[in-house]
Amino acid sequence: MERFALAYDTVTKAAAILRQCHLREEDIHIKTDHKDLVTYYDRRTEQILRESILDSFPQDAIVGEEYPPANSGGAPVTWYLDPIDGTTNFINQHRNYAISVGCWEQDRPLFGLVMDVERQLLYWAKRGEGAWCNEEPIHVSRRESIGDMLLTIPGIQHAFLDSHPYQQGFFRLAREVRGVRGIGSVALELCEVAAGESDLLAAAQSCPWDHNAGRIIVQEAGGAVFTLDGNALPIDSKTTLLAMNSADRKNEILHLLKDLH
Ligand code: IPD
Ligand code: CA
Ligand code: CA
Repeated sequence: MERFALAYDTVTKAAAILRQCHLREEDIHIKTDHKDLVTYYDRRTEQILRESILDSFPQDAIVGEEYPPANSGGAPVTWYLDPIDGTTNFINQHRNYAISVGCWEQDRPLFGLVMDVERQLLYWAKRGEGAWCNEEPIHVSRRESIGDMLLTIPGIQHAFLDSHPYQQGFFRLAREVRGVRGIGSVALELCEVAAGESDLLAAAQSCPWDHNAGRIIVQEAGGAVFTLDGNALPIDSKTTLLAMNSADRKNEILHLLKDLH
């Protein structure tokens, strides 16, 4: 089976397990504090994904959230795995969480899949082949004026309440747009931009496994991704994140985000 088909198949099976699971208190563990949790199902899902990939492609590198990297250093193909993006939603709502799988050949995207588990919506894109939600093509919105836009912010508490270089910029941007939303899953929020359901995304922090699938989907849907200072989004490091329906608005948005203090 080739890589995309393997990913599609494995993500579909892992999602079925998550939909049926009954989370118990003893399945939930604190990573660093009460806002940073992991469950038995995060780890189990990542194990399922890793085993499936390494069985067929033992040389591939894997960067996942819950386990140390596999085959790092020199492998031509790297997989970025977030077994549950939106663990807080998984625990508190049992919806609005995703499985995110991005596959890269060094710095070239191969494909990305983001499964909205409870809605059974699989967002996916292969390089050069457009972006899709299940069998339907998706495209970013055509809104041009920032005043008409919806801004999605993954990590609202951090963005607005914590002190960081973009805090005032988030306030300025939030004042300009039509509305601000936040689901609590970077991967799903990138897919909202790709599907034209929101127009802009800004995150003060995002990890490779959070966005390395969704960013491919945004770009294949006609949108653009950058860091919050307008640079190319790195592949292997924690970063700020800006996604938008068109690079045409980049300078206007960067001006609002720029910290004037
Ligand atoms: C988190 C979610 C959340 C974002 C955090 C991420 P997790 O991922 O995507 O929306 O604000 O920065 O870490 O921990 O649920 O995989
Ligand atoms: Ca995540
Ligand atoms: Ca996660």
